[in-house]
Amino acid sequence: MLRLNKYLADCGIGSRRECDELISAGFVKVNGKTAALGQIVDDNSHVTVRGKRVGDKQKLYYIMLNKPKGCVTTVKDDLGRKTVMDFVDVKARLYPVGRLDYDTEGLLLLTNDGDLSNKLTHPRNEINKTYVCRISGVLKENERLQMERGVLIDGVKTARAKVRIVEQDQHHTRCEVTIHEGRNHQVKKMFEAVGKEVEFLKRIAVGDLRLGGLNRGEYRFLNDSEVEYLKNL
Ligand code: URA
Repeated sequence: MLRLNKYLADCGIGSRRECDELISAGFVKVNGKTAALGQIVDDNSHVTVRGKRVGDKQKLYYIMLNKPKGCVTTVKDDLGRKTVMDFVDVKARLYPVGRLDYDTEGLLLLTNDGDLSNKLTHPRNEINKTYVCRISGVLKENERLQMERGVLIDGVKTARAKVRIVEQDQHHTRCEVTIHEGRNHQVKKMFEAVGKEVEFLKRIAVGDLRLGGLNRGEYRFLNDSEVEYLKNL
């Protein structure tokens, strides 16, 4: 016995919220009758979405990929470019959690758990994402502090961030940057706001979950305690 929105989410239809929208819109039927929000179903219920039977509850997958640069973070690319899905050999409808740019590499989660995906990407939850980056030139202390306190991107100030200089010479600076927002090209734009260009960008952690020794283009399944950790973030 479980709520219809949870049942649909477990079947891989979408997040619970998205499933509630389908229910409200009248697209979902249980045993031939239009379903109601909050309805309870069990394994014997005949559930359809837009007239199509929703089958057995789907196995949920949680994968960490070390995304290489030169691929897009989508399931399918209209321009025929390589996508992150080309690196993962799993017969399930997975999708990426958030987005890394074409030329960004590193930790990307893939799942068919819509609830977890929503949780990890919703700005309200302020999930930390940590990047290592190499920028051209020297990042001065006042610029570093400006980035930590917030800079304007498209007229909106960024939230507090952590920017740590790891190594520096007169041509380049290597930094570790932790942000909890997920705006488009955010790290690059934060550096751009202080007049610096990012030459290399790699995500190394989501919360305390780290990329570790995973090679470029390789993936692994998260273990149970890693999945629990993400669900409790
Ligand atoms: N910030 C960026 O600028 N690019 C990414 O891919 C991720 C964060």
